[in-house]
Amino acid sequence: MSKPIILTGIRSNGELTLGNYLGAMLPLARLQARHAGEYQVNMFVPDLHSFTTPIDHEDLYANTIRNLKMFIASGLNTTQKDTFIYRQSFIPAHAELTWILDCFVYFGELSRMTQFKEKSENQETVSVGLFNYPVLMAADILLYGAKYVPVGEDQRQHLELVRDLAIRMNHQFSENLFIVPEAWDEQLKFAGLNKGVRIRSLKNPDKKMSKSISDPAGTILLSDDPDEAAKKVMSATTDSIGQINYDFTTQPGISNILQIISLLSERSLDEVLAKWQGSTSYGDLKQEAAGLVRDFLIDFQNKVSQIEESLIDEKLLRDEAAMRQVAEAKLLEVQQMVGLRRK
Ligand code: TYM
Repeated sequence: MSKPIILTGIRSNGELTLGNYLGAMLPLARLQARHAGEYQVNMFVPDLHSFTTPIDHEDLYANTIRNLKMFIASGLNTTQKDTFIYRQSFIPAHAELTWILDCFVYFGELSRMTQFKEKSENQETVSVGLFNYPVLMAADILLYGAKYVPVGEDQRQHLELVRDLAIRMNHQFSENLFIVPEAWDEQLKFAGLNKGVRIRSLKNPDKKMSKSISDPAGTILLSDDPDEAAKKVMSATTDSIGQINYDFTTQPGISNILQIISLLSERSLDEVLAKWQGSTSYGDLKQEAAGLVRDFLIDFQNKVSQIEESLIDEKLLRDEAAMRQVAEAKLLEVQQMVGLRRK
């Protein structure tokens, strides 16, 4: 029996943020460490997803390699057997399956995706790629039969769509066609979380910390100078309530800082709250978070600088060859089911 699969991906459209790290990279590295030997781990760069919104194409290729270095620096052990790294565009089955899935997903379903609505708002033109984004994501997951997909809260709706689509196709063609990824609550349980991770902008804590947001003071980039990043934390927007509570509705800025402390220090939120709940010293709270962010970045950037690119190139070559076979076998099965190939 092949092992169940944990799979996630991070686009390479620009700099990675602390949100990417805490929402996807760290959870994957922790799951890998916890389940070594039991699960297969797929960490890939969805490079075709990277220009659903405009980017500088001159930088794309180098960004992809840099991201892979960052995955490794985040603790992903690529020497472990059953851990694969690859680039989406190097495995053509992703794009081919997307077309087939496109014909079974509804226009109304994609129109309801919050991320599409947010990203297309106030844009003069909106690409079909942005609209179709979740279907390519479905192909990324279903080709390999991933059971667990550690992603941040912003991807929950997309994951639910992937499940709906897999169930629909299985119902129409064969119950064994696709492995349906676990439901969101099961995903959280598996990752040891009470709720999805959504790191907010330090300046606009009602918004997600995002690489595309034009909000440098609110965004910690993984390449930021550690002292500058600490300063950003110290000048984070809070509130005038004057007492520390964990409540994203009334105190999003403070709650965001509490969440960052908990995730970076590997302490449960309850432990962090036991120390800070009710305290009136926002400055001391920020000081603790700033120190953690600074120390994390020093260590992380040091690790990135030690990773040799040639090792990544060799691993990509091997893993992309292996994953191409897996993906092509699943694509053929789908092609047979929809009548494109002889059964
Ligand atoms: P991307 O590159 O936008 O985000 C990559 C991952 O980072 C998480 N993330 C956050 N988590 C918490 N707080 C934040 N502020 C924050 N910002 C980003 C995202 O939730 C995501 O987990 N669609 C995916 C890429 C993808 C993918 C896939 C993932 C394509 N195909 C298949 C899993 C499986 C995305 O959001 O990329």
